[in-house]
Amino acid sequence: MSTVVVVGAQWGDEGKGKVVDLFSERADMVVRYGGGANAGHTLVIGGTKLVTHLVPSGVMHPGKSCVLGDGMVIDPHTLLEEIADCQKQGLLQRNELLIGLGAHVILPYHKLLDGLREDRHAGTAQAIGTTRRGIGPAYEAKAGRRGVKMRDLLRIERLRELVRNNLDELNPLITHLGGTVPSAAEVEKWVSDAARAGEKLAPSLGDASRHVYAAIVAKKPILFEGAQGCLLDLDHGTYPYVTSSSTIAAGACQSAGIGPTHINAVIGITKAYATRVGSGPFPTEMHGEFGERLRQAGGEFGATTGRPRRCGWLDLAALRMGVRLSGMTGLALTKLDVLSNMGDVQVCVGYKLDGKALDEPPIDGEDIARAEPIFQTFPGWGELPRATQSLDDLPKTARDYVQTIAKLAGAPLALVSVGPDRNQTIKLADPFAG
Ligand code: GDP
Ligand code: IMO
Ligand code: MG
Repeated sequence: MSTVVVVGAQWGDEGKGKVVDLFSERADMVVRYGGGANAGHTLVIGGTKLVTHLVPSGVMHPGKSCVLGDGMVIDPHTLLEEIADCQKQGLLQRNELLIGLGAHVILPYHKLLDGLREDRHAGTAQAIGTTRRGIGPAYEAKAGRRGVKMRDLLRIERLRELVRNNLDELNPLITHLGGTVPSAAEVEKWVSDAARAGEKLAPSLGDASRHVYAAIVAKKPILFEGAQGCLLDLDHGTYPYVTSSSTIAAGACQSAGIGPTHINAVIGITKAYATRVGSGPFPTEMHGEFGERLRQAGGEFGATTGRPRRCGWLDLAALRMGVRLSGMTGLALTKLDVLSNMGDVQVCVGYKLDGKALDEPPIDGEDIARAEPIFQTFPGWGELPRATQSLDDLPKTARDYVQTIAKLAGAPLALVSVGPDRNQTIKLADPFAG
């Protein structure tokens, strides 16, 4: 096995950063494929914490090739800041960084529009609860064939023309949404700032697809790092409460520009419970005291926006859908420790809707919101032992819990994570082996 995709199996924040960091040890190349700086991936190594937004989470391992795929939407200023932060910490010194020339650029007007839309619809069903990082407007421009690509940053005349043409169409929308149309001087500053950022990034810009393909041909181990999660997928998630990219494993092929036959394994990451940040249906959400207890125990506050995450029981019907959509060959189950000392644990094993039993969430978002979860109760467990190396070290009730999840979800366990640190992990299978 030389190519492994790591994908979020829920609504994001499952612990992809930790798992990618762990698996990166075995990889020569780590390719971030989806989204942009809406992502926040947390790595904890020996108590030191790093949150990556754009840079692949393999960054902690010196000497790895780190690639940003063409399917990403990149804020060049955020990327430069993140690179500088990493370098201050002694990271990215020996890593080769390659940013796809075809990736799209997030410009200030994308963020402006994202924020204006959210403000206008605040408190209504139309508010998506986005991260306000300009993701939707940048992908809209891409699909509308009006987008600005990283390669355009290297040609200021073309960049200026693209930005002006876009704003020509967008200015009435900015006014309609209650915003202030940018002045000509402001627009020129956006253009020159972006071009300057492009100049700084130029040595790292290149043909990501061919770069990844060359590594595939050379049979180098490659890890593809997803962002967000299957239920936030633009096509298959809880639309319209989704992000604007292809978050499922297929997104790795689309973004990196490789064929599906080159993917050998797909590891889906799921928490031992569920969280969601932003709006949208969440059938197993726990309101009130218990939800708050879980939020505090799990530190469930956004790594990008700091927003409190909505918390609920694990939804196996949704997880089953993620396993199917991404063709998962293994599961990494994280945050098992958070359920310690919580009493009995519940898991949604399916739904009831209009008298019918469902084993996956219904297609329509309104139906998902109406669907009644069917819960199975598991006896809880107390504190997990400090040094947990194998499933046998877990209390029997916790072991039964994780094994039942894997069985009902339909994919074998590749690892169980019992704390945020790299070493708080029970490794069960090497996704690069076999
Ligand atoms: P990502 O977006 O999928 O990379 O996940 P985030 O970094 O946004 O959120 C996951 C959070 O859970 C981070 O704060 C991680 O440090 C933390 N985390 C990951 N695995 C575990 C675990 O097994 N136990 C605990 N307690 N925390 C974990
Ligand atoms: P990682 O990679 C959790 C959610 C937002 C919102 C919706 C659309 O850290 O798991 P967007 O800004 O993308 O237009 O917002 O998607 N969202 C995430 N939720 N984790 C993420 O990333 C997310 N990225 C976007 O909260 O509901
Ligand atoms: Mg996150």
